[in-house]
Amino acid sequence: MDLRIKPLDQILATAEKKALHRSLGAFDLMMLGVGAIIGTGIFVLTAEAAQKAGPSMMVSFVIAGFVCAVTALCYAEMASMIPVSGSAYTYSYAVLGELIAWVVGWALILEYTIAAAAVAVGWSGYIAGLLRNLHELVPFMSNVNIPDAWVNGPASGGIMNVPALLIALLITWLLVVGTKESARVTSVLVCIKIVALTGFVFLALPAMHASHFVPFAPNGYVGKVGVGAAAASIFFAYVGFDAVSTAAEETKNPHRNIPIGLVGSLVICTVFYLLVAAGAIGSIGAQPLSGAHGELLQPGSPELAAACKGLKELVCSKEPLAFVLRELHWPNVGNLIGLAAGLALPSVILMMIYGQTRVFFTMARDGLLPRVFTHIHQKYRTPHVVTIFTGVFVSLFAALFPVGVLADISNSGTLFAFLVVSVGVMMLRVRDPGRKRSFRTPAIWVMGPLAVIGCLFLFSQLSGYTETLFISWAAIGLVFYASYGRRKSHLAHGEPSE
Ligand code: ALA
Repeated sequence: MDLRIKPLDQILATAEKKALHRSLGAFDLMMLGVGAIIGTGIFVLTAEAAQKAGPSMMVSFVIAGFVCAVTALCYAEMASMIPVSGSAYTYSYAVLGELIAWVVGWALILEYTIAAAAVAVGWSGYIAGLLRNLHELVPFMSNVNIPDAWVNGPASGGIMNVPALLIALLITWLLVVGTKESARVTSVLVCIKIVALTGFVFLALPAMHASHFVPFAPNGYVGKVGVGAAAASIFFAYVGFDAVSTAAEETKNPHRNIPIGLVGSLVICTVFYLLVAAGAIGSIGAQPLSGAHGELLQPGSPELAAACKGLKELVCSKEPLAFVLRELHWPNVGNLIGLAAGLALPSVILMMIYGQTRVFFTMARDGLLPRVFTHIHQKYRTPHVVTIFTGVFVSLFAALFPVGVLADISNSGTLFAFLVVSVGVMMLRVRDPGRKRSFRTPAIWVMGPLAVIGCLFLFSQLSGYTETLFISWAAIGLVFYASYGRRKSHLAHGEPSE
């Protein structure tokens, strides 16, 4: 089989030719990482994880964090060795060949596009909640109730999620006209998120009761419900650390700073997540709701929505952190958390759509996607075609699907990409042992296999339809590659990347 491997030196030379200004240091990268990581996962999916696992979702956070940590260590070696844009797609091209690189790029579409949609839906939940309680926060304004049908897609019993649709369109427009979040705006938004989560922890932890942790794992540990399933969903909360590696071309001394940025941002987030989860469960309890026959009601389903009518439960809330604080009689701090989410989550959407456009851009530069994707707008100097293309899909998915379904689908693509990177880093140790690696994954023959096993385990815990969807998506990708990319590839024609 012709593997069509893109020589590493060629990739590095292309990057050198197009070199972007190297201005980011370790601290900037950590900010970038935390900025991309903290989002809908902790602010919204906490409720979904609680519906799947109850208080044992604490264990789910640890499992998902552990899988991300070992993968991040593999990512770090790869990123420090191949500091170019395109992330997992580019690494796979150099190690496993064009076909696998294509499938990874195709899977990254799930990671970025669907994740952007998920965050938009998460944002919508907080904004709707904030508007419902607007009068308490701003006394001269009245509360605004958006009807359920217009904040839920058809799968959750509504018509469409209008706020999610609007925010996705707005972000797309900002990217088209060239809004790039400045380092200063990123820092401000990261601070807002950290202050919001810290405030939550300070108010929720003292209200903890040991009794709220019993029963600890009402749905068991492995299977399509329980701790494993919640870990597979909450994995979403950690996604984004690879945004650090995509900034490799703009990083000073990437060999040192990329690994620090990756691992550092992950550690900061894990600590926050565990504290927040403990606070939410411990203060008001988080037991899953079952149907009439004892079956688990799926998060985001109309059945769960019906069971939730009139109940005040964490698992029913679309703005769980604000909900917990309202229950603890801190209504206005809850509203402020809603405001913080409302301000900060759009930047995660922006980063996800931006990440997607850069992966598409790199793939088009290699000839695997139509050249039109590399078009730059004359006035704004942005890749407007690929941005609008991505934005339209993000908006549609955001308008129609519930957050948990989107997050799970996104996770399936991300887990695949992570798995390939972990395999790739081990292969390069064998195939190209002499290449300079300023960061070496410690104990690679332990970390690498652990990352692979971890990704496979989490994938196995995703719902059946998510797995089927992923496999179908990969199959469509292969047909597309066979009929387009394989023939058009610049590498196949011996041409350099544009
Ligand atoms: N980790 C990001 C979030 O939780 C994608 O929203």
